[in-house]
Amino acid sequence: MLNLSKLATAVALVVAGTAALAGEVEVLHWWTSGGEAKSVGELKKIMQSKGHTWKDFAVAGGGGDNAMTVLKSRVVSGNPPAAAQIKGPGIQEWAAEGVLANLDSVAAAEKWDSLLPKVVADVMKYKGNYVAAPVNVHRVNWMWANEAVLKKAGVKAVPKTWPEFFAAADKVKKIGLIPVAHGGQNWQDFTTFEDVVLGVGGAKFYSDALVKLDQKALTSDTMKKSLETFRKIKSYTDPASPGRDWNLATAMVIQEKAAFQFMGDWAKGEFTAAGKVPGKDYICAAAPGTDKAYTFNVDSFAMFKLKDPTAQKAQADLAAAIMGTEFQEIFNLNKGSIPVRLGMDMAKFDDCAKASAKDFVDTAKINGLLPSIAHGMAVRPAAEGAIKDAVSQFWNDDKISVADGVKNIAKAAATK
Ligand code: GAL
Repeated sequence: MLNLSKLATAVALVVAGTAALAGEVEVLHWWTSGGEAKSVGELKKIMQSKGHTWKDFAVAGGGGDNAMTVLKSRVVSGNPPAAAQIKGPGIQEWAAEGVLANLDSVAAAEKWDSLLPKVVADVMKYKGNYVAAPVNVHRVNWMWANEAVLKKAGVKAVPKTWPEFFAAADKVKKIGLIPVAHGGQNWQDFTTFEDVVLGVGGAKFYSDALVKLDQKALTSDTMKKSLETFRKIKSYTDPASPGRDWNLATAMVIQEKAAFQFMGDWAKGEFTAAGKVPGKDYICAAAPGTDKAYTFNVDSFAMFKLKDPTAQKAQADLAAAIMGTEFQEIFNLNKGSIPVRLGMDMAKFDDCAKASAKDFVDTAKINGLLPSIAHGMAVRPAAEGAIKDAVSQFWNDDKISVADGVKNIAKAAATK
């Protein structure tokens, strides 16, 4: 027979349990373009399905410079969000301030150590404790191209070297279209710059110059050649590029106004959101001279120390969700990246993502797996900012000689 009083107690317990578990997560990110917003929307849905409230803290600005400025003021005023998109060495700097939460119990319960490549897990840990949850792996050294534009211009094969690239760009110029869709913001200038350094100098040179910041490499003839090539690319961009957002540059390729864009595979999120298919409407190829290397950019959320137990619970659920298979698949299908969690089924992913997953493994074997400096993976934020400024000054001012450009970059790299 149904015992009503027992049932009432059970119902009360369930309700109380749910209420006690539901909390708010405030999440700082800069994912505001079409593809990015769709992707982060999937995380919001997952958190809401667990009964939590999602408080969106979006700060527009590709590459995240604006978001980092806003984050600093929030943390300084003692009011951090639950989670913030922070990457690479930046995670260590925040952890050293003592403001990040320890995620070890979630990480142990969810077995993160066995589900992450060690290189990635190490970046998520501070003094051996997890303080951040990784989302994905973006490849940065991609070149995107519009098939129809290449056809119209008579470009028969996708350029694999810089000389081939310039020959193709000349053909595009001749038919009155824009060879290179570029957004003139310093992180976008640098995204192109690191492709050029890698393509001109190879993986070891890239690592010496841009990761180790070795002065000899930074002042070498190879660096001079890189700057010459970089400047030449600018002559194939349109006059309206300064200040343009990266997704508007991608839209120029999608809309057949421009042939190429140098950008990480978040650009693919824009093609996907526009219903475009790789191999049919557009091409993804390694930037010229870089097919044996892979510059990576791992998005991750660092979690801040919170006082309220319900907020802490929501935060732990967020960390678990980020590394869960459901999120890793749906988010990355929209974002253009590949899952960071090992052993994921790639069946639903397109050919560019499959190529990225294969190259991630293959390039690691030949020392070609390299952190992207443009995307906060390689050097401390202070030096990174100074080098980016020097590179953009060179890009924006044709009066700066290559010799001076080299000197300025080497000096910026020495910033402490
Ligand atoms: C990168 C970030 C990517 C993408 C891009 C443009 O730094 O890692 O996820 O969002 O900025 O906003």
